[in-house]
Formats: sequence, C-alpha cells, structure tokens
Amino acid sequence: MEVQRDIEAMREAARALRQQRGSLAFVPTMGNLHDGHMALVAEAQCRAPAVAVSIFVNPMQFNDARDFAAYPRTLTEDMALLEAQDVDLLFAPAAEEFYRRPLEQSTRVVVPGLSEILCGAYRPGHFTGVATVVNKLFNIVHPNVALFGEKDFQQLLLIRRMVEELALEVEIVAVPTVRERDGLAMSSRNRYLDEEERRRAPALYRILCEAAEAVASGRRDYAALEAQGMARLERAGFRPEYFAIRRAADLELPAKEESGALRILAAAWLGRARLIDNVAVPAPPPEGR
Ligand code: PAJ
Repeated sequence: MEVQRDIEAMREAARALRQQRGSLAFVPTMGNLHDGHMALVAEAQCRAPAVAVSIFVNPMQFNDARDFAAYPRTLTEDMALLEAQDVDLLFAPAAEEFYRRPLEQSTRVVVPGLSEILCGAYRPGHFTGVATVVNKLFNIVHPNVALFGEKDFQQLLLIRRMVEELALEVEIVAVPTVRERDGLAMSSRNRYLDEEERRRAPALYRILCEAAEAVASGRRDYAALEAQGMARLERAGFRPEYFAIRRAADLELPAKEESGALRILAAAWLGRARLIDNVAVPAPPPEGR
C-alpha cells in the first residue's frame, strides 16, 4: 500500500492509479478503523479496480476542542488493517498540511438547511466542516466513486446534496450500518462506554426499531411516537438529544399520509459517549396491492 502525507503527492498518486486502472473508488475516514469502515472498503473494491482511503481527524468538524483532542488516533493499527485488505493508496495528512491557515480564516462549503437540523442543531459548524473536508478530499483524489455509511445518515444526505449542487463528478454510494451482534452500531466512540453502559447501549437500536415497526404497522401519530422514543431512551439510562421521524429523501417532516420512505434517527448520550443511530421505515406498498 502506498502512503502519502502531502496534498500534491497524493494528487499525483491518485491520478496515476486512476489512469493505470481505469477508475478509482475512495473511502474518507477519520481512522480508528473498525468493521464498519472495512465494509466501506470492501464495497469500494467491488465498485472499482483501485481503492484509496483517507485518514484525517478533521479539526474543522469538531465543535468541541476536548472531543477533538480525545478522538482516538491509531494510525499504525489502521495501516495494518488497510494493508491486509489490499487497499492501494492511503492519504494521511497532518492537520498543518491540510489547513494552511487558521480554521476561522479558511474557505468553507456550507450546505444550508440540512446542516442546521438534527445533529447540526446540537453541533454548530459540524456539517460545514464535513462538507468542506470532503469537498477538498474529492478535489485532491478525484474519485469516480466515493462510499459513505448509512450510520451517519444526515452526513450521507449532506454529501449527496453538495455533490449535486456543486455538480461534482463523483458517484456517491451508501453502505448499510455494520452492527455488533447485540445491535449496537459500530463506532469509534463506543470505546468511551464503560461495561455497564456498553450493556445498555443496544437499547438505542431496539427503541428505533420499535418505532419503525409502529410506523410500518400504520401509525401516523409521529409526534407521539417521537415523544415515546425520547421517554424510552431516558428510561434506558440515556440523555437523548433528539428522536425524529423524517422523510428519508431530505430529512424534512413527513406529511400525514407520506408516500415516500421514512427514516427514524436519534442521538443520545450514554455516559461520556454521544451515540447516533438510524433505521429505515420501508415505503408502504402502492394502494390496491
Ligand atoms: P468516520 O466517523 O471515520 O466514518 C468514516 C465513514 O465510515 C463514514 O462514511 C461513516 O458513515 C462510515 N461508518 C462509520 N461507522 C459505520 C458503521 N458502523 N457501519 C457502516 N459505516 C460506518 O464520517 C466521518 O469519519 C467523517 O465525517 C468524514 C466523512 C471522514 C469527514 O471527515
């Protein structure tokens, strides 16, 4: 696996790989890789003959300096995993290489609306940091395909919207959430859970699934279901931020008789860990079937 740490060398390496193999798939990450990330890499290998990964803990998307400082950095282990999975090219820049000016003076990419709701309401500036770093990574790597996890569903929609509105030439592919055996979505932040919290953590997914089943079975009192979801999370020992039933296409509030697919999303603190998760509610079959 070729490893690049500066922007110009990465640009050249990605260009050469794209030319040699015909197309390039790209998986952006912040490292501390787990099976969720590796599922993106595996899907990337199905989509293109060459795969590049980035590992960069992006300071611009952290609204809390302590969270940024504490974020796990495990480059040696990560490189071994990527090497073992036959990844072709890794980009692992230093923060000073990636952002040459103080962050507050740097150019940024703003996706209005989608950036301000749900997680964006609790993490001001977060999604602007995400859109900016992903746009810049795309400009360096020029991938034909890029892969994102449904685990971060709002991020996935944000990237899709940015790509559409800025007419970027890259196909965005979504990969389903990879879970532990008990249902907990894999996340680098799960390591902040102590033993007792880890036992409670799968309740987040369970409570989301219960709400999805209620909607699938015909309930349309979304506000009541959201309040019930919040109460259940509290009873399970979480400090919930939101529990929201939204349209899957744009995360707007659903109409009473919504015909499109819905998504149920939640964010909740458990001890020191802020956990997020989401589940799909399949669209109802067309009338008369
Ligand atoms: P990070 O949290 O490292 O996640 C990198 C990618 O892995 C994202 O697309 C995320 O949705 C996906 N992912 C994480 N956990 C997953 C799981 N359990 N199942 C499936 N996919 C999972 O998301 C980021 O980094 C950053 O915001 C980034 C896009 C790299 C920009 O800095």
